[in-house]
Amino acid sequence: MIKPRKVVLVGDGAVGSSYAYAMMNRGLGEEFPIIDIVKNKVKGDVMDLEDAQVFTEPKHVYFGTYKDCKDADIVVITAGTPQKKGETRLALVSRNMHIVASIVKPVVQSGFKGIFVVSANPVDIITAAVQKLSGWPKNKVIGTGTSLDTTRLQVALGKKLHLNPQSINAYIMGEHGDSEFADLAEASAGNRPLLSMIKEAGISKDELTKLVAKVRNKAYYIINAKGATYYGVAEALTRICQAVLKNENTILPTDAPLNGEYGLKDVYIGSPTVINASGIAKVIQVPLNDQEETLMKKSAATLRKVAKKGMD
Ligand code: LAC
Repeated sequence: MIKPRKVVLVGDGAVGSSYAYAMMNRGLGEEFPIIDIVKNKVKGDVMDLEDAQVFTEPKHVYFGTYKDCKDADIVVITAGTPQKKGETRLALVSRNMHIVASIVKPVVQSGFKGIFVVSANPVDIITAAVQKLSGWPKNKVIGTGTSLDTTRLQVALGKKLHLNPQSINAYIMGEHGDSEFADLAEASAGNRPLLSMIKEAGISKDELTKLVAKVRNKAYYIINAKGATYYGVAEALTRICQAVLKNENTILPTDAPLNGEYGLKDVYIGSPTVINASGIAKVIQVPLNDQEETLMKKSAATLRKVAKKGMD
């Protein structure tokens, strides 16, 4: 009998709940225990999601405990304090470092041997903390990185160029946060350099700079408008889990554990990676021009500085 694919969700807040719903809609995984300290929220979501699954794919969604991690393929960690209006992701580091420490220990003690997927912010630093605390091989801890930021760039450019965002091959890289940058030098659409298409569309350098700044700050706009973001990051988490569960070898801009790429080591930071059943199968080092290389190094330095503070 084929072992049912099991994904444990730790954190059933707005992001976790949206992720659970997204996974169900894609029919990904068969066993789906949900863990959260707010037990009633989980009980309510389990009842709500089991109704929804009558219209989707059969899935065993249930109130989980850390024991359920033992034979899980993936443990997804969304638990953590979200940004308040005007708050940076980096400002959450100490609070969420403590929360994630209280999660990783019981997961490892359960005998779990699978892959961690992380979205708690500041995700680059929290992903590194999950790897350190668990002692997992670096390729088996995947943070959402700049996957959400990249979709925001695709959406913004798609609107400007009247293209389906999925047709735009461009990445946001670096920190999932205020020091992120767009790697446009190598970007393309329809096998044509994106920068040429942007120029032909009459978009000035200044307009492009403003567009990338809006992408970088989009979470703040969403939080100001509705209090939190959750659908975008839930779909980013789902896309990563799909690539793992289906052993896809898909290239996604997740948190990449650098080991010399871009001249950087010992940091998780947004860069394209190949994702399959083993986790991060490969980090793709994309060519960066001098300015982009400087931005990548600056982003990594920011993350190192804040991570050190968060550990104090
Ligand atoms: C955002 C959160 C997930 O960018 O950091 O929406």
